[in-house]
Amino acid sequence: MADATIKVNDHGPLLVQGSFTLTDPDGNPFETKETIALCRCGQSQKKPFCDGTHGKVGFDAACERQA
Ligand code: FES
Repeated sequence: MADATIKVNDHGPLLVQGSFTLTDPDGNPFETKETIALCRCGQSQKKPFCDGTHGKVGFDAACERQA
């Protein structure tokens, strides 16, 4: 059973940590580590993973805080 935490970073990727399976559109699993960063800006050359490009392109997407 999956038990993961997903953290939304301001102006950056989604950090996924824990036990999970990440698959491509055909259901084939990616090899992952315990913590991965998923691209949220759409500019990574290593999608679905973040490659740091968000910082170069000025990705601006602060997350709305929950009360
Ligand atoms: S969020 Fe990092 S490259 Fe897209």
